Amino acid sequence: MDGNGRWAQNRGLPRLKGHEQGSKSVGECVEGCRDAGVKYLTLYAFSSENWKRPAAEVTGLMMLLERFLDQKTNEMLEKGVQLRAIGRLDELPAPCRKRLDRAITATAGNDRLILTLALSYSGRTEIVDAVREIVRETAAGRVREEDVTPEFISAHLYTSDVPDPDLLIRTSGELRLSNFLLWQLSYTEIHVTPKLWPDFTKADLFAAIDDYSKRQRRYGGI
Ligand code: FPP
Repeated sequence: MDGNGRWAQNRGLPRLKGHEQGSKSVGECVEGCRDAGVKYLTLYAFSSENWKRPAAEVTGLMMLLERFLDQKTNEMLEKGVQLRAIGRLDELPAPCRKRLDRAITATAGNDRLILTLALSYSGRTEIVDAVREIVRETAAGRVREEDVTPEFISAHLYTSDVPDPDLLIRTSGELRLSNFLLWQLSYTEIHVTPKLWPDFTKADLFAAIDDYSKRQRRYGGI
């Protein structure tokens, strides 16, 4: 969800105002995905690297997340949205974690849209955590060399029960993966829009899906 800082800067506002506006785009995008029949939406809300930002921005982002969870959990519950989270969630502040756990538990029975928030997330760390788990299982004698296949690795990632993404949308014209779902994006189609995240609307989402629907996916074949 890139471009919040630039959106604020363009208006002479503090960066946090951009994140605040970005939270509104989250609501819009979730609604748009439900309308379009998208089954899984994963939002990169806070990377492991984002902890390096000034303390006031980090605190502000955590408060926005808390506010989002306070205000939106009931709506998610009513509208069939199941909330999940991936990342090193134990690194999140306790009040944030508490609300997150509550929302995840409350919405666990929903299945219309699986909304996953990537929080304190890094694709490389996810792979490190998977390898560590595999090493532990190997040491316990539960894994043989021939068991290790791409499917086996996928099953040890945070996203073990989520299919690999069909489409990655990058806002604000960024042309890098920024440590997001590194393993899972192997065959994902990429849509880059110059729109800053706070300006990203349902119409932009539908345009991205339309662009995706015209792609020919060959997975390395012909
Ligand atoms: C990247 O833009 C965005 C973030 C680090 C935070 C994204 C968070 C939200 C949209 C709000 C809270 C989340 C939820 C789920 C309610 P940037 O700050 O790097 O922008 P810039 O590249 O223009 O500086």
